Amino acid sequence: MADIDKIIAEIKSFKITSEKCLVIYKNKYKTLLDNLCKELKTAAVTEKKVLGQQINKLKTAIDERYKDGFNSLHRTISKTEEYYDYTLPVESTIGGLHPLTILKNKLNYIFQRLGFNLVDGPEVEDDWHNFTALNIPLYHPAREMQDTFFVDNDARNVLRTHTTSVQVRVLEHQPLPVRCITIGRVYRNETVSARANSVFHQFDGFCVDKNVSFADLKYVFTEIVKGLFGTSVSMRLRPSYFPFTSPSVETDISCTVCGGEGCTICKGSGWLEVWGGGMIHENVLRKCNIDNKEYSGFAFGGGIERLSMLLHRINDLRLYYNNDVRFLKQFKSFSL
Ligand code: DAH
Repeated sequence: MADIDKIIAEIKSFKITSEKCLVIYKNKYKTLLDNLCKELKTAAVTEKKVLGQQINKLKTAIDERYKDGFNSLHRTISKTEEYYDYTLPVESTIGGLHPLTILKNKLNYIFQRLGFNLVDGPEVEDDWHNFTALNIPLYHPAREMQDTFFVDNDARNVLRTHTTSVQVRVLEHQPLPVRCITIGRVYRNETVSARANSVFHQFDGFCVDKNVSFADLKYVFTEIVKGLFGTSVSMRLRPSYFPFTSPSVETDISCTVCGGEGCTICKGSGWLEVWGGGMIHENVLRKCNIDNKEYSGFAFGGGIERLSMLLHRINDLRLYYNNDVRFLKQFKSFSL
């Protein structure tokens, strides 16, 4: 029993300089205590009382040294930031919306006010909806414009190359008039770069009714530009080509960076291309069993990433997919 005092002296001078020392200390004296407790069980009745008291004294000394060691370690190590206390409550981190979700919500809001309904379609699409019904027959050079991912060997199913396929799905089945918007993922066999990715997002809108004219298209386009970029931005329509619209246009807005003066972003032209559109081609209406003498319509569509990049002055498309919190947390304040 004289040993106990010696052990207590040893405990008091035990050096606890790291987490590892603390573990070694704990294991060493826990084992010792366990053995003494075993001894206590088999000890003679006369000895039990004294032995019990000694064990208690030892236990108190072990606990105290442990607490001291832990506390001083915690204090010094946390100063050098090497020590992580996983039991501390976390600083509350509230997530924000992804910039593409923010834009998707914004577009949805603008279109809802114009009477457009949000619709959806499959990402694995058949040839008919992605190409043929959109006036892009087999071997048409327009198929080359969009590097397609084929899902099966006989090329009957593809990963949709544009959200324009949803237009066909709606026009085939929904009673007229219709005014719809769709926003979703599309796929193209592109080399990944600051300007292109093999997966990206598009929006497509369309309206079919009696007496729909090009003036209606222009009105809707003006409203989208105002809603997205504000009233100080001007818009122009340039003749273009799409197999599914005629006449077709490309929509430009005055450069949001230089205001139209000409800068590196707009390549000196003062204009930025935002989306394509036009009057729905009569072949498309016919393929969807719509009488093109009675009904007409306009359609439009383009890339969501491109719009978001213009809105937030982002120069690399890859940032949208890397999930880097430093990029994402900059959009925390956007609530829409
Ligand atoms: N689908 C076209 C593309 O992927 C964009 C587009 C152009 C959609 C004209 C339309 C449209 O609905 O009318 O580049």
